Amino acid sequence: MRIYSRILGTGSYLPEKRLTNADLAAELSQQGVETSDDWIVERTGIRARHFAADTQGSSDLATEAARQALTAAGISAEELDLIIVATSTPDMVFPSVATMVQHKLGTAGCPAFDVQAVCSGFIYALTIADSMIQSGSAKRALVIGSEVFSRILDFKDRTTCVLFGDGAGAVILEASEQPGILATDLHADGKYKDILCVPGHVNRGGILGDPVLKMDGQAVFKLAVGVLEETARASLAKANMTDADIDWLIPHQANIRIMQSTARKLKMSADKVVVTVDQHGNTSAASIPLALDTAVRDGRIQRGQTLMLEGVGGGFTWGSVLLRY
Ligand code: ACO
Repeated sequence: MRIYSRILGTGSYLPEKRLTNADLAAELSQQGVETSDDWIVERTGIRARHFAADTQGSSDLATEAARQALTAAGISAEELDLIIVATSTPDMVFPSVATMVQHKLGTAGCPAFDVQAVCSGFIYALTIADSMIQSGSAKRALVIGSEVFSRILDFKDRTTCVLFGDGAGAVILEASEQPGILATDLHADGKYKDILCVPGHVNRGGILGDPVLKMDGQAVFKLAVGVLEETARASLAKANMTDADIDWLIPHQANIRIMQSTARKLKMSADKVVVTVDQHGNTSAASIPLALDTAVRDGRIQRGQTLMLEGVGGGFTWGSVLLRY
């Protein structure tokens, strides 16, 4: 009998501070950086984003999302036997955000660790949790994507600082005989490291290099549209399914034009794509679970439907998870 990883519950959290494009443009203008709502909406589809308070770290956002997911799943934190957090913006160099979340949830003992695959992080984390559940080493896993990208943005660089936001999303997976995750597909190619990176690092008590996000937007765009189609098709092939079997496409929320292009390639109509980039901006590893939770809570996603989750990000990394909700 095959063991599946089935989603028991989802949750998410967005920090209180919300900035529309006009709010952000006004703040940037005070520093001599010019942008506009029109430019941002036309190129990206983003209308607003949330920024964490100075006192909030990724572990705080992650814990809020985890609490919601636990409530939705109807289980307590003590019942978890695995915690994985996908993040590129951890509270500290170490220990991991996952161990902090574990403690904040008031539990201890089960394995907890972070996965760093930038915007593909949640897809990587979900795949690892699925493998551990299928192998029998875990039965109930908490998988979170949580980011405070506002901490690594250069607010003098208008080509990047308008694109990102902060947030967290979480799912509880449970071992089940009923279908859940049907297929997964992961990839990376390190030769693309320079097109999307934060080159700074901690060195002997200081920061060496530039600790802010650098991106070659057009190179990222071109790569992203190609690999997102490939990975979706790879997961479908592994599950002996076709694009017609997908009820909802839940792509990484970087840019509406990348999402529309992927949907067209998969012959899916735009109303079958869950879009939250307009309200959240790009929240990196948090974007997919945030979009998933949004569409579960507003009733679009129903039990028994087939979901294609897919991500692409720095590294370059990319991958997909095909699942029955
Ligand atoms: N406001 C106003 N003008 C701007 C802004 C801004 N925020 N940013 C750039 N511009 C100007 C540029 O200076 C340039 O002006 P110029 O022609 O006078 O030199 C003009 O707009 C065009 O700039 P480009 O960089 O060529 O704009 P492009 O059409 O490529 O759009 C964008 C930029 C939106 C970043 C696009 O390349 C893109 O979507 N790339 C995908 C990258 C992405 O989504 N990354 C997210 C992170 S990666 C991930 O999550 C996978």
